[in-house]
Amino acid sequence: MAKPWDPASWRQRTAHQQPKYQSQRDVQAVEAQLAGYPPLVFAEEARELRRQLADVAEGKAFLLQGGDCAESFADFNANRIRDTFKVLLQMAVVLTFAGNLPVVKVARMAGQYAKPRSADTETVGGIELPSYRGDIINGIDFTEQARVPDPQRMLTAYNQSAATLNLLRAFAQGGLADLHQVHAWNLSYLENNPQRDRYLQLAERLQDALEFMAVCGVNSANTPAIRETTLYTSHEALLLNYEQALTRTDSLTGKWYDCSAHMLWIGERTRQLDAAHVEFLSGVWNPIGVKVGPNMATDELIQLIDRLNPKNEPGRLTLITRMGADTLGDKLPALVRAVKKEGRSVVWSTDPMHGNTEKASSGFKTRNFDNILREIRDFFAVHRAEGTHPGGIHLEMTGQHVTECTGGAWDISEADLASCYRTQCDPRLNADQVLELAFCISEMLRDGRNGKA
Ligand code: PEP
Ligand code: CO
Repeated sequence: MAKPWDPASWRQRTAHQQPKYQSQRDVQAVEAQLAGYPPLVFAEEARELRRQLADVAEGKAFLLQGGDCAESFADFNANRIRDTFKVLLQMAVVLTFAGNLPVVKVARMAGQYAKPRSADTETVGGIELPSYRGDIINGIDFTEQARVPDPQRMLTAYNQSAATLNLLRAFAQGGLADLHQVHAWNLSYLENNPQRDRYLQLAERLQDALEFMAVCGVNSANTPAIRETTLYTSHEALLLNYEQALTRTDSLTGKWYDCSAHMLWIGERTRQLDAAHVEFLSGVWNPIGVKVGPNMATDELIQLIDRLNPKNEPGRLTLITRMGADTLGDKLPALVRAVKKEGRSVVWSTDPMHGNTEKASSGFKTRNFDNILREIRDFFAVHRAEGTHPGGIHLEMTGQHVTECTGGAWDISEADLASCYRTQCDPRLNADQVLELAFCISEMLRDGRNGKA
C-alpha cells in the first residue's frame, strides 16, 4: 500500500527533468524562505477556475490558454506583459463574439520559467555543456558558469511572478480590459493587416452591440462584465522544489493547493504514472492539465485520468493533446472514444505547437502556421465526429511582432525568421498570427453550433 499523499511525497518517486543542484543545504534554505512567503493565488480563485472548466467540459464554454514558451528574467517588463494580455483579450473577444461561447482565459504567465529538455547536454562548436532548463534553474548563455543550476533563481522567479500577476490583476480590473478599449485595439491593429475587411466587419458588429446595450442602460459604468475580466495564470509544474514550497492548506476547506498559479500542468516528458510529477499534482486541488502526445496508449490514458481525477470531478482535469498535424487525425479518435466509453469527464484541449516544431534550413527552430491550423481543424473534426467537445486551445504566443513561426496572412518566410527571432525556447505565434487563428477557430466554433462538421 502506497503511503498517503503529502506535499513532499513526490520525493519518494523518480523525479524526471530535475536540476542537479550542487548544495542541498542551499536548496533547503531557499525552500524554507519560499515556504514563508505569501501564496501567489488564493484557493477560492482556483476553485472558481475549476467551476468554469466544468462548463468547458460540457461544451458550454471554451478554454483559451496561451503565453510564452518560457518567460525570461531579462525580458521582464511592463510592455511585454501588457502586449500578451491585450492579445489574449482580443482573441477572447473574437472567440466570444464570433464563436458565441464564453471564453475562459488562462495565461502561460507569472511562473512559466522551467523547461523540460530532450537532452541533458548541448554541444556547440565541440563544447558540451548542461542544457538550459529555464530561468528558474540556470542561465541561457552558453557558458559553464551560466549553466550551473542556482537555487537562488527560485526566489527571482517568485518575485517576478508576483510582479507579473500584480500587473495582470491591475489590467484585468482597472479599466484596460473594458470592452470599448478592446474594440479600439482591434481597430488600430487593423491598419495594415491583410485581413482587414474580415476584422472590420466584426469590429462594427461589436460596436453596434455595445451601442445597443448602452441604449438599454447597460454600460461599463454600471456593468462590471463590460469593464472587467478575469485572467487566470498557469505554468508547467516542472520544478517540484518550487511547487512544493508554494503548496499550502486552504483555510476555508482544509485542502492542499499549489498556490504558485491557478492551474498547473504536467508535461509530455514527466507524465509517467508512478513518477514524481503525477504523484505531486494528484494531491493538490487546483485544476490541472496533462499533455497527451502521439504515443499515449488508451489504457495508459484511462489509468492516468483515474490517478489524477479519481472522483471523476468535472473541471479538475484538462487533457492537452499535442500530436502533430500529420498524426492527430490517426491517434486522437481512439483516445476520445475510450474516455467517452469509460464515462470520464475531462476538458479536451489542443496544443498545436509542440508536435509541429521543425528546423528551417537557416537553422532556426520554427513552426508553420498552416500546420498549426491543420492540427486545430483536425482536433475539431475528431470531436465533432465522436460527439465530444473540442474544449480549448493551448498556444505558445506573444503580443509582440516577432518572426518565429512561418506563414499566416503576412506570409512570414524562412528567410524572414532572422529579422525578429527572440524566443528563449520554442517559436511563438505573433500578435497577427494569433488573431488570425482566433478568427479561424471562431468559425469552427460557429460551424459546430450550426451542426456543420
Ligand atoms: C510546453 O508546453 O512548454 C512543453 C514543453 O510541452 P510538452 O510537454 O507538450 O512538450
Ligand atoms: Co515549448
